[in-house]
Amino acid sequence: MLARPLIERKRDGGRISASEWRRLMNAYAAGNIPDYQMAALSMAIYFRGLDRDETGALTDAMLHSGATLDLSHLKQPRIDKHSTGGVGDKVSLILAPLVASLGVTVPMMSGRGLGHTGGTLDKLESIPGFRTALTLPETVRQLEAIGCALIGQTGDIAPADRRLYALRDATATVESIPLIAASIMSKKLAEGLTGLVLDVKVGSGAFLPELDRGLELARTMIDLGTDHGCPVIALLTAMDRPLGRACGNSLEVEECIMAMRGEGPPDLMRVTYALGAEMLLLAGVVRDRDDARRRMEVAISSGSALAYFQRIIEAQGGDAGVIDDAGLLPEAPECELFVAPRGGVVARIDPRAVGHGIIALGGGRTRVEDVVDPAVGFVITARPGDVVRAGEPLATIYARDEAGVAVGMRALGEAIVIADEGEPPLPLISHRVTESGVEIYNDG
Ligand code: URA
Repeated sequence: MLARPLIERKRDGGRISASEWRRLMNAYAAGNIPDYQMAALSMAIYFRGLDRDETGALTDAMLHSGATLDLSHLKQPRIDKHSTGGVGDKVSLILAPLVASLGVTVPMMSGRGLGHTGGTLDKLESIPGFRTALTLPETVRQLEAIGCALIGQTGDIAPADRRLYALRDATATVESIPLIAASIMSKKLAEGLTGLVLDVKVGSGAFLPELDRGLELARTMIDLGTDHGCPVIALLTAMDRPLGRACGNSLEVEECIMAMRGEGPPDLMRVTYALGAEMLLLAGVVRDRDDARRRMEVAISSGSALAYFQRIIEAQGGDAGVIDDAGLLPEAPECELFVAPRGGVVARIDPRAVGHGIIALGGGRTRVEDVVDPAVGFVITARPGDVVRAGEPLATIYARDEAGVAVGMRALGEAIVIADEGEPPLPLISHRVTESGVEIYNDG
């Protein structure tokens, strides 16, 4: 009878204390609270919300429902980056080796794609042999040896969150800011970080499209970090169009390798450098943003970021030959150009339609247990605002077969809108949020 009075209290707008959250989450992780009661509580939280102390207590309770990484013996600062997710968002794959190559330990725990958004783990697993399911002791050993590990949420990290997140997904209670913030931060705080950078996406393809909701999520996670002694800063970045050109797992890995060779698309590089600068500043290894930018550019031009990626791939059992030979990545048997059906301005490239197109090609998931085809997807070379002629190539479709090509054509026909005039897209990086407040972003 632990849960019923708490559900009732939250339903009526009351508060749940820290010790109650702890008992509830431990009991839930141990299988002693039925899902229907947690579903009812999640819905009560969805409508009533949680205050800062309650959100902190819930985060703590989920964090301590499982194991945590103790990295306090490592001398280097330990910084991770978390993105709220999007289409073509492959930044983590570039950022982790880039920042690690500059003397920061990066324990990066990522997720799988679900719905229209992609996931870092799926992208990494398109590298033949790459293991993302490291145990915690393996993760610690790899961090000691090379300073970076790219892993998934192991069963022993925040098990209460793992169960609750799946339940929220099935009960339409994901979109509650305190629940999202507690869920993300319970996993991030389990990594034993000394700082965290958040990439909060806004725009039609974002998990929370509205700017004010994105800002509120950023502030809530920053408060949680502050209350747990982990400094957090957030950048708000645009997800009203895909990031970069490649959308689909192995295509994105190939784009990341190109980016680490200095040939990345400008939007992808700008977001990567902006987030990287924040990671390096939090780590205290650079003087200012200009210094950070210079050092990241040198890490790319000298090949040291790419060499670091190669070490990570080798350490995690992957075929590092993909660095020099993209042909070792899974390749789709069919590829075909998508051309402009009319002349005009590219008014929109809808990330949700692109993401759903990848799912329709077999490259994404609608349920957690779905298996993804790593080879399929799109490379979209057109950008919003481009003036195009009828018949001009805008994208390439990568599919398993002819039927897949037709599916891809339909998806891009819906996603890429050509009109007589275009609307300006969202600023690529709009705001920087810290403990002291919100500022308009300006990276010079
Ligand atoms: N990602 C998470 O890990 N948790 C949420 O609640 C939402 C997104």
